[in-house]
Amino acid sequence: MFDAQKIRNDFPILQEKIEGKPNTYLDTAASAQKPEVVVNRMVKAYLEEYANVHRGSYFLSDKSTENFEEARKIVQKFFNAKKTEEIIFTRNATEGINLVAATYGAKNLREGDEVLLSRAEHHANLVTWQQWALKTGAKLKYFDLGEDGSFVLENFLKELSSKTKIVAVTAMSNVLGTIFPIKEICKKAHEVGAVVLVDACQYVVHKKVDVADFDCDFLVISGHKVYGPTGIGVLYGKYELLNDMPPYQYGGDMIETVSFEKTSFALPPARFEAGTPAIVQAIGLGEALKYLMKFDFNEIEEYESMLTSYMTDRLLEIKGLKIHGMAKQKGGVCSFSIDGIHPQDLAFILGKEGIGVRTGHFCAEPLVLSLGYKSLTRASLGIYSNKEDIDIFIKTLEKAKTFLA
Ligand code: ALA
Repeated sequence: MFDAQKIRNDFPILQEKIEGKPNTYLDTAASAQKPEVVVNRMVKAYLEEYANVHRGSYFLSDKSTENFEEARKIVQKFFNAKKTEEIIFTRNATEGINLVAATYGAKNLREGDEVLLSRAEHHANLVTWQQWALKTGAKLKYFDLGEDGSFVLENFLKELSSKTKIVAVTAMSNVLGTIFPIKEICKKAHEVGAVVLVDACQYVVHKKVDVADFDCDFLVISGHKVYGPTGIGVLYGKYELLNDMPPYQYGGDMIETVSFEKTSFALPPARFEAGTPAIVQAIGLGEALKYLMKFDFNEIEEYESMLTSYMTDRLLEIKGLKIHGMAKQKGGVCSFSIDGIHPQDLAFILGKEGIGVRTGHFCAEPLVLSLGYKSLTRASLGIYSNKEDIDIFIKTLEKAKTFLA
């Protein structure tokens, strides 16, 4: 059962005082806090069950391998993927996107082909394709969003054609909060023969990822945004696509046989996991997803949507404040500007009161510039956020505004 206070108690850092003030953490979109069970699971893995994986034939190595592969099974279940072999552990979502661009992209993109992105992509899903378009001669195209930041099907269809080979799109914008209709995007993209890579970094925190329902070809997440550790991410890929892709990096664990002259490569997922992986981080991510799976995602959505509306309404009461991104389908982030006030000054004053918000372009510089700003302030919510956080934030924001004005 969804019990907001009980959930908050699962996150010890939220009970800590920040410079003597309550910890008002409103920066989950940048990185989420960790429930105690995740930290404890990692401590146990290090203190009692640690050795390298896939290599030894002794107790600790077997145990560590079993735990690591169990984490893969948890991710498979969480994503509703068909096979564990479709789950590749990466360093983070950025590495997952780079992997697909450098293998699938390098193999399949030619001059005259097009890669289609939304204008809301953050740097990982923009710079990577921009650079691989330059390398391969493919053309990079963007589809526009609506005035309020919403997805507009006609805009997407206008740019989609038989030349489109890859659609790389976020499922939820880290700036605007817009939720993208991934299932519909995949259907339309497949009709013209394109594959779809979904950046689900933000979406996965708030809504149920179901790769079977989406019918996406690739999907990436970062562990640290979904209540897990840093240094671990996941790339999901349809097996037939993965199996047809060359390796990303070379080294141990990704080979079948090696001679001094040549090498044959392992099947996925090992083909894409060269070297010793982030073993304990993968186990920690598995624990974080297990933690999330205890809840009904509909309840998480309902709770967070209530909080997002509350935060939006309270912010809009502040004179001179503009929220960027007011799509109907929106997750728990509010990026805003206040006339005449620099976000950095605001964040400094908020920080002194124990409130953590992010300022800047949020690694989505072209989008923020297109809104007419160099820098915004963003408050973002997680499963542990509550109305009190928002009340403290708004009260301090009002005070800061008066002071800075
Ligand atoms: N892209 C991350 C954010 O939105 C880092 O803060």
